[in-house]
Amino acid sequence: MFMKRNRHIAATALSAVLLAAVLVLAAQERPKPEQVLKHDKLEVVLPDFPAEGLILDIGGGGEGVIGRLKAKQVVAIDLSKQELVEAPGEPLLKIVMDARDLKFLDGTFDTATVFFTFMYIAPADHAKIFQEIHRVLRPGGRLLIWDVVFPRKTDPRQLYVMYPLHIQLPGKEINTGYGVKIAEGQGADHFLELAKASDFEVISRKDEAGWFMIEFKKPAPAPVPAAAPAPAVKSATPAVAGLWDAVAKSPDGDLQIQMEFKLEGEALVGFFKTPDGTTPFSKLNFTNDKLSFEVDYMGGIYRIELILSNDKLAGTWSAVAGPESGPFSAERSKS
Ligand SMILES: C[S@@+](CC[C@H](N)C(=O)[O-])C[C@H]1O[C@@H](n2cnc3c(N)ncnc32)[C@H](O)[C@@H]1O
Repeated sequence: MFMKRNRHIAATALSAVLLAAVLVLAAQERPKPEQVLKHDKLEVVLPDFPAEGLILDIGGGGEGVIGRLKAKQVVAIDLSKQELVEAPGEPLLKIVMDARDLKFLDGTFDTATVFFTFMYIAPADHAKIFQEIHRVLRPGGRLLIWDVVFPRKTDPRQLYVMYPLHIQLPGKEINTGYGVKIAEGQGADHFLELAKASDFEVISRKDEAGWFMIEFKKPAPAPVPAAAPAPAVKSATPAVAGLWDAVAKSPDGDLQIQMEFKLEGEALVGFFKTPDGTTPFSKLNFTNDKLSFEVDYMGGIYRIELILSNDKLAGTWSAVAGPESGPFSAERSKS
């Protein structure tokens, strides 16, 4: 890997920069001049892109371009402490960290940027880095990648490529050179495939001469449908609830008695009310205006079956263990 840092220089001095960059390359990896393919200058215009919240800048050393653009929103990580130390700009944090093994919790960042950094990382590691970025982005978060399109080698001896770069930031110009080993044919499509495998959506893609920019999004989970409004609570109080003045007719005469129905918890209960107390009903059922129950009264068990209509109950009583029976009716005295 080699890179020539040369900030704020005039474009007219570019050839000198390139020469110096190749010399840096030579010093670091010692490629021979014939091994270096000199690429045309990349013209990169980088407008101030909108981004909310924290931005994770992968490989934020070097020229520290994203740190210069978005300053205190940026957490710059880089494998190389020296690259971070030397990078201009004042991001919120500079942390020595490997992009293949990010130490952040899931969903920490709103945006991740990889500005001409994948070109410096072995292609075999790219998928892992995509997965890591996906993990530390919040759902709905974005990944922005700028990178080179590697050239086809015209000369088999050429193992390296040197890219002179002119980066235009709002109010700032950076002239530099990025030099790396050629990963032949690698370009935007390689990253689109990685993104698909890591569950990123493509938002936009820009192809320029020798470089590209792609914006991805980590899909947000489908919104949970708003809970259906709770149905209006149907009154659980049955229509039969209340006090009733009842009359049971028999050959021996009429029995006049008060009865009451009410809810206890969710259960309908009923009983005869006398000055001496209450006599509870058993097998009480009230369905579709049909009321039935049994009552143990005065030494016998009686079954009463009634129909509710217009606040009146009418039906029959009958002895459970005998032939006696007769009409039974009631009028509501109190709801
Ligand atoms: C030259 S810089 C890229 C340009 C930089 N973003 C800028 O603004 O100028 C590439 C950086 O990627 C870093 N890098 C390479 N492999 C890395 C990895 N696995 N994790 C984090 N940083 C890495 C290198 O140390 C180098 O500083």
